[in-house]
Amino acid sequence: MNLAFSFLFFIILSCFGSNEAKCHKNTVAFRNSLSQSHSVLKVHCWSKDDDLGDHFLNFEGPTYNFSFHDSVFTGTSFTCNLYKGAYQRTIVAYLGAAIYRCGALYTWVARDDAIYLSKNGKPETLEYQWIKS
Ligand SMILES: *[C@@H]1O[C@H](CO)[C@@H](O)[C@H](O)[C@H]1NC(C)=O
Repeated sequence: MNLAFSFLFFIILSCFGSNEAKCHKNTVAFRNSLSQSHSVLKVHCWSKDDDLGDHFLNFEGPTYNFSFHDSVFTGTSFTCNLYKGAYQRTIVAYLGAAIYRCGALYTWVARDDAIYLSKNGKPETLEYQWIKS
């Protein structure tokens, strides 16, 4: 490798490093808004590498959330099981895209009728129906 090439390589690496530092983690959050049943919401999420275990959320209690950087090379995805009394649903809570995301906030809201998603504070959209188990 000649000197000019090494220098260019160093510049590229530095840019990569500083962009990485400015990229805030993405967050996936869950909220129990089961206003009629007041059921406890159980959430169990996992990715290819991590099992995040069981979490129990009370109606209008604190959200359960976790944060991560997108993995550039292997892709990032989190799948979760949600449980509400006799109902449950498996959801894809987060799926990385071709564009590396920074600072995204996905808020999943469990309601009595269905499961809703709000991306980055935008209005909720209905994403999944509960299934009787
Ligand atoms: C994540 O949870 C913490 C407490 O565990 C809370 O302080 C914070 O507001 C939550 N963040 C979101 C985006 O829900």
